[in-house]
Amino acid sequence: MQFIKTQVAIIGAGPSGLLLGQLLAKQGIDNIVIERVSGEYVLGRIRAGILEQGLVDLLHEAEVSQRMDEEGEPHDGFEIAYYDKRYRIDIKALTGGRTVMCYGQTEVTRDLMEAREKKGLLTYYSSNDVALHNVDSNAPSVTFSQDGKEFTLKCDFIAGCDGFHGVSRKTIPENKRNEFERVFPFGWLGVLSDTPPVAEELIYCKTERGFALASRRSAVRSRYYLQVPSTDKVEDWSDARFWDELKKRLPTDAAEKLVTGASIEKSIAPLRSFVCEPMQFGNLFLVGDAAHIVPPTGAKGLNLAASDVSTLYRLLSKVYNDGDKEAVYRYSEIALRRVWHAERFSWWMSNMLHDFNDDNVDITERKMFDRFMQSELSFFLNDEAGQKVMATQYVGMPYEKI
Ligand code: APR
Ligand code: PHB
Repeated sequence: MQFIKTQVAIIGAGPSGLLLGQLLAKQGIDNIVIERVSGEYVLGRIRAGILEQGLVDLLHEAEVSQRMDEEGEPHDGFEIAYYDKRYRIDIKALTGGRTVMCYGQTEVTRDLMEAREKKGLLTYYSSNDVALHNVDSNAPSVTFSQDGKEFTLKCDFIAGCDGFHGVSRKTIPENKRNEFERVFPFGWLGVLSDTPPVAEELIYCKTERGFALASRRSAVRSRYYLQVPSTDKVEDWSDARFWDELKKRLPTDAAEKLVTGASIEKSIAPLRSFVCEPMQFGNLFLVGDAAHIVPPTGAKGLNLAASDVSTLYRLLSKVYNDGDKEAVYRYSEIALRRVWHAERFSWWMSNMLHDFNDDNVDITERKMFDRFMQSELSFFLNDEAGQKVMATQYVGMPYEKI
């Protein structure tokens, strides 16, 4: 058994863990990241690409923003195609100048990974049997194995940045956590292709055939999504079938511009809303997908993780650099206020834009719900006050002052 020590143990080398590690190191707080899979595997995950200003600012603060500044695309608005009629939500004008950045999440993770390595910060990839111990004591620890060697990492705090399926949330005793979940009766089939996008900005499409999203990574790389039944398998969808269905769901003038090509990534993601309360237990703090999941409709996943990271690293800095030992125990209460706001917005956008073909709900009730949602969406698209509400939440609520 090899004993190692740090101040903050970070479980997971996704965007949450890597961003937290970078910001803690900048505050002089020692940290070690323990990751279950290889770095290459982490980078193989294709995720959303819309960054709120809060996350853009954090990446500048972490000094990991150069490539984003060079290759990212600031977006002043997005579109909603409502049964073929296109509405532009001018987020910049509606929010007094705030915008979002279009830059692949995988690229954010890559930049953070490279910055961590360049700084010489320790990351144990391909770690097995990760387990957290004595998290509600002043001497928590993490055990894991790597390349046949056993390790015990002693630390002051543990940041559980290990995603929805990680070990951290499950380390909190069941009777000490309260979980909220809503699983949507459909998923998103996503395709990445090296083809020019159909539009400069994102187009969220509500159609009688179901939801579609036309997104982008650059002027030569597109990201598209289709709502599919949660029973569908990715092998049910050839590229040809995907492009054919997408053409039927895009607004007509956009469909005419669609350039198809081979998919370089194709996968189906389930849609769920999930929150674990509280987001802490003793000296274990849950961050990002370990604590909450949002349907991707509002592009809040990474952005919500970023606000968790911002809150936790600032509170830990108060502990280590200002001697305020109790500061970090305010984390969950602060983080949850923003989590629930983003959960509601993502749920609301998902309800308005998708076709609820939920067999568990009586067809009459389903049709009534769909009419309600059509009327809701029509109001928010045709009323400037409604557009302002949508824009203000899409760009993201400001982070709380710590
Ligand atoms: N031990 C160590 N690492 C683990 C364990 C474990 N037991 N379980 C999971 N992990 C790792 C995963 O391999 C993954 O690399 O934790 C990391 C969690 O990363 P994400 O799932 O990406 O979660 P997070 O960093 O919170 O990302 C939040 O970015 O990746 C997107 O969909 C995600 O939008 C969300 C946002
Ligand atoms: C993406 O580009 O992958 C993306 C963009 C916006 C969303 C979801 C996904 O709401």
